[in-house]
Amino acid sequence: MSLTVEIKENVHWVGAVDWNIRDFHGYSTNKGTTYNAYLIMDEKIALFDTVKKSSLSSLLHHIHQLTEPEKIDYIIVNHVEMDHSGSLPEIVDLVKPEKIFCSPMGKKALIDHFHREDWPYEVVKSGDTISLGKKTVTFLETKMLHWPDSMFSYIKEDGLLISSDAFGQHWATTERFDDEVEECELMAHSKKYYGNILLLLSKLVKKLLAQVGEMNLDINMIAPDHGLIWRQSPGKIIEAYDRWSGQESEEKAVIVYDTMWKSTETMARAVYSGLQREGISIKFMSLNDNHRSDIITEIIDAKAILIGSPTLNNGVLPRVADFLTYLKGLKPRNKIGAAFGSYGWSGEAVKIINTALEEMKVELVSPGVRHKYVPSHDSLMESVELGRAVGKAIKKT
Ligand code: FEO
Repeated sequence: MSLTVEIKENVHWVGAVDWNIRDFHGYSTNKGTTYNAYLIMDEKIALFDTVKKSSLSSLLHHIHQLTEPEKIDYIIVNHVEMDHSGSLPEIVDLVKPEKIFCSPMGKKALIDHFHREDWPYEVVKSGDTISLGKKTVTFLETKMLHWPDSMFSYIKEDGLLISSDAFGQHWATTERFDDEVEECELMAHSKKYYGNILLLLSKLVKKLLAQVGEMNLDINMIAPDHGLIWRQSPGKIIEAYDRWSGQESEEKAVIVYDTMWKSTETMARAVYSGLQREGISIKFMSLNDNHRSDIITEIIDAKAILIGSPTLNNGVLPRVADFLTYLKGLKPRNKIGAAFGSYGWSGEAVKIINTALEEMKVELVSPGVRHKYVPSHDSLMESVELGRAVGKAIKKT
């Protein structure tokens, strides 16, 4: 069993590391995750969030290294999603807290989850402050980031922002701080997390960053509910969120495709060659070999999305349908795109992809390219030209 980590004086990480989780409702957590919970030992002892139900024993093990659970006075629920509240019923029974602090929407969500009207809820709003003794906690509601109940807790004396899901990563490590791991990998996990969880909320993220800026909070550490704690470079992740939420793009295209008998894959390669001729940076991602959540990571800063599918039973291949559904939910903005695909007789796939892209407000550069059965060397030039047209459009923007 692992040890607690003191992240600031009398502020301890007491969470859990989930090494083996590989799917987080559609997000491939190929390096696991952590459920971070924090315990402040002050005149009042306060627990910030709990952990997923299956990790309750880790949380209890960590709490026991510092105190008896019964001595905890307050529980702060920054977020009700089950990866942070799943252990709450057992913890409340054990701790019998004097108060459970949560946002107004948090109280409703807790009752809707656990059906316990009798818990000692204390509803707090943005700007409300409580004293734990030497330390004070100020709450900041972050409605819809990413749930209606979400909020941050700020400990003024430590310059510590306990940020719930924001600024996190799904990455299981023994290390707890940003300066203990390799920066490129940390930022890659952070980007994937942003793309798959927060991309659709980018406008709200921008607003929140502005709001936090206006509050002039002195933040020298950000402790999220997943992954590494930003001790050395909290500014780096704030700056990255500012960039990602602006949905700024580079001269980059992502080709996403699935194929039946390799004709659509051959077309994808021809599209690639057209883009390459225009000097565009390309990610070439078969849906058979790349997880949807890794493709989204590449789409964040790409200007163009090109999607290919053959026609199967008057539709697209199942993995393409899955990807379109997922992408649509994440609402990418400021993108251009195009579709391509082979067919035998009816050939609806390109039209279906075009419709989906238009619904996502992706600007179509071309009506798309279709090839019957197997493209010839000459007919492949149409796909090359599609790549070139998209490449030219990227450079114009
Ligand atoms: Fe990590 Fe929204 O839960």
